[in-house]
Amino acid sequence: MCGIIGITSTKNVSASILNSLRKLEYRGYDSAGIATLESGIIKEVKCEGRVDALEKNLSKQKIDGNIGIGHVRWATHGVPSTINAHPHSSDKVSVVHNGIIENSTILKKLLIKKGYEFKSQTDTEVIVHLITDYLKKNNLKNSIIKMLNKVHGSFALGIIFQDQPDLIVGARRGSPLAVGYGPNENYLGSDSYALKSMTNKVTYLNDSEFCIVKKDGVEFFDEKGNKVNKKVLELSKNENQYEKGDYKHFMAKEIDEQPITIKNCVNEYINRISNSLNIYNFPWKDKDISSILLIGCGTAYHSCLMAKYWFEQMTTLDVNVDIASEFRYRKNRFKKDCLYIFVSQSGETADTYAALDLCNKNNVKTCSIVNVVESSIARDSKFVLPIHCGPEIGVASTKAFLGQMLVLYILCLKLAYARKDIDKKIFSFKVKSLLELSKNVKKTLLTEDQIQLVCKSFVDAKGSMFLGRGFSYPIALEGALKLKELAYVHAEGYPAGEMKHGPLALIEDGMPVVVLAPRDEYFKKTISNMQEVIARGAKVLLITNKNKDEVVHENIWQSIEVENINDDLLPFLITIPLQKLAYHSALNKGYDIDKPRNLAKSVTVE
Ligand code: F6R
Repeated sequence: MCGIIGITSTKNVSASILNSLRKLEYRGYDSAGIATLESGIIKEVKCEGRVDALEKNLSKQKIDGNIGIGHVRWATHGVPSTINAHPHSSDKVSVVHNGIIENSTILKKLLIKKGYEFKSQTDTEVIVHLITDYLKKNNLKNSIIKMLNKVHGSFALGIIFQDQPDLIVGARRGSPLAVGYGPNENYLGSDSYALKSMTNKVTYLNDSEFCIVKKDGVEFFDEKGNKVNKKVLELSKNENQYEKGDYKHFMAKEIDEQPITIKNCVNEYINRISNSLNIYNFPWKDKDISSILLIGCGTAYHSCLMAKYWFEQMTTLDVNVDIASEFRYRKNRFKKDCLYIFVSQSGETADTYAALDLCNKNNVKTCSIVNVVESSIARDSKFVLPIHCGPEIGVASTKAFLGQMLVLYILCLKLAYARKDIDKKIFSFKVKSLLELSKNVKKTLLTEDQIQLVCKSFVDAKGSMFLGRGFSYPIALEGALKLKELAYVHAEGYPAGEMKHGPLALIEDGMPVVVLAPRDEYFKKTISNMQEVIARGAKVLLITNKNKDEVVHENIWQSIEVENINDDLLPFLITIPLQKLAYHSALNKGYDIDKPRNLAKSVTVE
């Protein structure tokens, strides 16, 4: 949700800002802008649309300067337009903002009374005028502290000043912000990805901190203005993880990377010699945990739902799942013997972070499962389990979903065995099956050709349904979500057994319906539900696993068979054709696969 960048250097910064904005574009892509300080004057170039459009504008309207800020926007207050694009500036300051200022309406009224004029519909402009106003009677640092005390909500800010040729202020509350260190220049950015082409040395700001970035040094402060000492972290230099290589889209690359990411993750967590799990320093005793609450949003929520089935099957723990945006505002009963597990690819999702923060404030056990280990959620959890997937750039989550499920499954196995809910034989069998997972994911990727043949029916239809029972139900939800967000067609995920309680009325002649029916304990029941939708005219794409004896093809439009593996792990395999279905449907329609409309990768607003 919006990406910000700031650079102060001895060189002209426009080209480097533009380059970083391209990296940040996955966070928001409805408008973009840049401001530099050129000969003591703040100059802005902005546009509606993508960074490509900004580049065109910059070629017509060149702006120079050794200090500048840039922004890619995901609109919250005010439609996507040039006027609402950031930076927002007065003649004294220029501001880029990621987040929401919740009291902007009241502040705007007060500032208008004082004579300030607003050009845009954004909440961000109040920050510009507040700082301009405070600067009349205060020094720069106190003006920032006063502004930060005045605004409510969540934000990451980058600010430059007309009379400061080498000074950028960064501030964060809720939204992520990092500082990067380069030779004779320093940077401010929403994430390390934006900074990586310039440096691998970064510092992350904690909540309520602000910083003053100059080209030869950076100072950090708490909200009261007291100096804070921070660590400089060194990031890995694996640049090719951030490139598309021969792929047309990051999503295609990330789907195809899954055999490798699964293998890497399995290698991190399984000791092949002793056939045991490498989860060290787990901070709690088994007897101190009697229930689990899994919390996430979107795809991460689906991996939580999946884990509920595994935890219930393998352990005697009570397990519940919650959507972070609901959890954070409910009257929860926080339980000391509950393990609260937060699942998030980015580790920056505002609702998931707020749910974690609430749990931390209630002093309960918090554990996170994240991809970005430097993220706020990872930093503020009492225990972290990384999914080891490498950067996921495509807005639609794919390899991270499999990674999240894998780590949840491994954690489930660990707790089940430690609690003696499963014996050594079952534990060893399940661990061994995990060693086979990567190979089977790789084989399942070969279903792509079959998927390409069916996707046209999905994009041409009024809508579609994805049905599954038991382990396949969360995957049905995930398959429907992927198709919606990428191909912009209505798709509903439903428990197959619920159809007759209402949604069956939606089925009409020729409607494509995906039925997930691997040959697990739910197989026969799901096949009966499948026949019920076929009888009402549905065109069924059945996704099951290979089986020599039993071939199901009665009245079925198309079927795809994934590999055979331990039943617990079939959800991983049946996910693959659904990812490919969404990808090829979007490709068929010519949509922007890595940047679906209205969405952004890192959801740092609630
Ligand atoms: C869907 C998708 C989103 C994210 C959700 C949570 O493809 O990517 O639904 O899963 O926004 O994001 P994280 O995992 O970063 O917390």
